[in-house]
Amino acid sequence: MNKLKIGVIGAGSISDMHLQAYAKNHNAELYAICDVNRERAAAAAEKYRMQHVYTNYADLLANPDVEAVSICTWNNSHAEISIAALRAGKHVLVEKPLCRTVEEANAIEVAVRETGKTLQVGFVRRYDANAQLVKHFINQGELGDVYYAKASCIRRLGNPGGWFADPERSGGGPLIDLGVHIIDLCWYMMGRPKPVSVSGNTYHKLGNRSNVNNLSFYKAADYDPATNGVEDLANALIRFENGASLLIDVSFTVHAKQDEIAVKLYGDKGGVEIEPELAMVTEKYDTILNMAPQTDSKSIDITQAFCNEINHFISCVQKGTAPISPVEDGVSMMKMLCGIYESAAKGREVLL
Ligand SMILES: NC(=O)c1ccc[n+]([C@@H]2O[C@H](COP(=O)([O-])OP(=O)(O)OC[C@H]3O[C@@H](n4cnc5c(N)ncnc54)[C@H](O)[C@@H]3O)[C@@H](O)[C@H]2O)c1
Repeated sequence: MNKLKIGVIGAGSISDMHLQAYAKNHNAELYAICDVNRERAAAAAEKYRMQHVYTNYADLLANPDVEAVSICTWNNSHAEISIAALRAGKHVLVEKPLCRTVEEANAIEVAVRETGKTLQVGFVRRYDANAQLVKHFINQGELGDVYYAKASCIRRLGNPGGWFADPERSGGGPLIDLGVHIIDLCWYMMGRPKPVSVSGNTYHKLGNRSNVNNLSFYKAADYDPATNGVEDLANALIRFENGASLLIDVSFTVHAKQDEIAVKLYGDKGGVEIEPELAMVTEKYDTILNMAPQTDSKSIDITQAFCNEINHFISCVQKGTAPISPVEDGVSMMKMLCGIYESAAKGREVLL
């Protein structure tokens, strides 16, 4: 089988995870890279020995040899670049979130339908080995009917600033950046039930806390302490058509003692904690059992999860099979996220 020629658009932080994973895949050839920042693109091209360097994504897409692209740019360009790539005949792996609005998401879905090309949404947590193991157990009925899930992704100090803090480029704060991961993981495990309503709150209480001393945190390349337009914290309750519900909270900053990640699902036959440490709970012979599945990593192995995501993308493109994180799921996710922002703005529950 011929190696698939890959173009990567956006050469910032997360692109290296994609590049590393493609470099390890024997069915892929890293071929072209693009970033509006030429130095960044050139550095990646040198590191991964890519032949073609661009500063305009349209030029990369005009290269007929590029067959598939990873889109690792700011959220505001995901829709435009995805649609242009599909219409240029390329297969697309687009980073999460799919885009910023439901309208953008619908336009991407139309482009996927009309071109027949593969589009995989980068819901990387689905591709972690522990997540796949839990999914298998759930599919085998081990948890029974999963009727409730709750998840938290709390950073006590972690507003990255730059484009992340600019709603125009990001579409929002911790909800769209972190919430997308934990909502998606729960929703996928619950069997992707149809969301029918959301009730959410967002808070702009603490700002970006650039004043804090003695504690370092990740900052975007173009960090500017004077600029921050996104929420510090969001919470939400999502109701599904089948009666199940999902409760989440996420923050870039809050007066918490420590950072926290938790992803927990409850069914009528058993429960599971995917984060902070894989664990399962059930009842047998009138006894509650806490079980600790023996796997290589107790928590997500992010490097391996990206490799699995990219291997899956290459395989779907080469075999013509549907990805496990298709565009429809990206559209549903945008309905939930945008519904939560709308509910927070209106101060009441919103029907989807
Ligand atoms: N899956 C994950 O766990 C994960 C983690 C971090 C970021 N992300 C996502 O990846 C994307 C990028 O995030 P990041 O942290 O790498 O940001 P980043 O700022 O480090 O990198 C983004 C790069 O895209 C470039 N860029 C922006 N618009 C462009 C355009 N139109 N054409 C070409 N280049 C353009 C920027 O110059 C920058 O180098 C975001 O959508 C983010 O949500 C996903």
